[in-house]
Amino acid sequence: MTRSLLLGLPALTVLLAFAPSAPRPDRATRAPAATRALATDAASCADCHAEIQREWASSLHGTAWTNESYQRALKRRKGAQRDACLPCHVPQPLGAAQLEAQEGERAAAPQARTVDLHAGVDCATCHRADDGAMLGPFGGPSSAHASRQDARFDPARVDRLCLACHATEIGPVLPLGQDFLSAPAREPAASCGGCHMPAVERAMATAATGEPAPPVRQGRSHALRGARDAGLLAETLDFELERLASGALALRVKNTGAAHRTPGLVGRKWQIDLELAPASATPPGAKAPKPRKASFEIRHDEALLPLAERSFEIDARELAGPLVAKVRASYRLEGKESIALPFRELELR
Ligand code: HEC
Ligand code: HEC
Ligand code: HEC
Ligand code: HEC
Ligand code: HEC
Repeated sequence: MTRSLLLGLPALTVLLAFAPSAPRPDRATRAPAATRALATDAASCADCHAEIQREWASSLHGTAWTNESYQRALKRRKGAQRDACLPCHVPQPLGAAQLEAQEGERAAAPQARTVDLHAGVDCATCHRADDGAMLGPFGGPSSAHASRQDARFDPARVDRLCLACHATEIGPVLPLGQDFLSAPAREPAASCGGCHMPAVERAMATAATGEPAPPVRQGRSHALRGARDAGLLAETLDFELERLASGALALRVKNTGAAHRTPGLVGRKWQIDLELAPASATPPGAKAPKPRKASFEIRHDEALLPLAERSFEIDARELAGPLVAKVRASYRLEGKESIALPFRELELR
């Protein structure tokens, strides 16, 4: 790592802090200073990559250091145990050692930073080369910094960038990356970014003064769709109702949406509430049977692997004819926080 660049930053920050009335230098003329500050400062990218910076800041990558549940877990650990928690939450820029595994070996683990901890998994983690250039899928030019197209963003390899931190089991973290690698192949092939970083058409930056405006391209949102996104959660599970030979009913729950286990973090669970009623209206004069209710859980220690399914039996022999079932899945986060998804209706003839 370029230590001198890192050490240079606090001095620069202090200088700026003591010159509040100095006019802000024009973008075109401050390129060298900007290049220096760019080494560690995610906020400085906002000058030109405002939308991407906002998305990132709202994501768990942007808050990987500051988020409360991480800070709580960190406080419970001391010394080497605590140090082991830093590399993926406040990493140095990833390089070939972390992204390319040698035959039969695992790639090297990320290394922890010692500065700008608040920035968590910062822009430099994924984009900064040893020489300070910004690596990306296009290599669009800018006077603010050198940029290069890099193979780490090739669609066939970009998952390795995610695997660098998401394939290990540590603390509450489960090895979703390993699940992904050993999952049955999908049609069309899925990538981490394909499910978690939605595609967007836009100019990726505003140019420095005097430069041509960057073109509109197809890029990706840095606001990660994750376990708090009701839309993504609603795509995770599929349900089917079946009558068994015994007369009992079975609710089959299948992980069709996640290319790794679900739920994917220690302490998480799915709760599934089911309500069964006859499909036909009760004849006049007859008493309507009470809807039959049942609830099931899928905890992290019995998580569903990709395309795996589990069957829950319901003894409902009193409901012999065609049925309608209302299924509601809720995803339980830490503590009592829970995300309830819309009802789904299933029919059994
Ligand atoms: C190998 C990389 C890596 C290391 C080392 C690591 N983490 Fe994490 N951590 C992650 C990833 C990736 C996630 C997101 C996992 C998820 O949401 O499925 C995460 C998420 C978390 C969360 C969940 C925060 C939330 O959103 O609720 C906590 C808490 C946490 N880590 C604590 C720790 C602790 C404590 C240690 C040290 C024992 C540690 N981590 C070490 C990669 C790592
Ligand atoms: C003064 C404006 C400016 C600042 C500040 C700036 N950039 Fe850029 N950046 C640009 C422009 C302009 C492009 C080229 C855009 C294009 O061609 O579509 C670019 C391109 C990139 C690319 C290349 C993407 C690709 O593959 O084409 C990456 C990655 C990048 N910037 C990251 C950063 C990061 C990280 C920071 C902060 C540390 C930063 N930039 C700060 C203006 C800026
Ligand atoms: C340098 C390590 C690192 C890399 C590289 C990395 N992540 Fe993460 N990721 C984390 C950590 C740490 C967290 C959890 C932070 C927390 O909760 O404190 C996380 C959280 C997430 C989440 C959870 C979001 C949520 O709301 O539940 C998703 C999804 C995710 N990462 C996807 C990706 C994808 C896609 C890539 C590759 C483009 C990637 N990550 C690369 C470290 C990393
Ligand atoms: C965890 C890794 C990760 C982090 C952190 C990250 N990016 Fe990216 N970034 C990516 C990936 C992956 C792509 C490529 C998406 C694709 O396939 O087009 C990308 C694409 C880009 C691009 C090219 C335009 C586009 O949308 O494809 C720019 C510019 C960029 N990132 C800037 C930033 C800035 C600025 C930050 C910090 C505010 C940042 N990135 C943080 C992984 C990351
Ligand atoms: C086919 C789509 C798909 C692909 C591919 C995929 N995921 Fe996911 N991921 C999901 C869905 C759906 C969820 C929400 C369900 C859940 O959290 O269990 C999720 C949840 C997550 C979470 C949050 C888990 C938690 O409980 O905190 C992380 C972190 C994550 N994915 C990382 C990754 C990484 C890294 C890759 C690539 C190695 C990847 N995902 C590939 C669909 C996908």
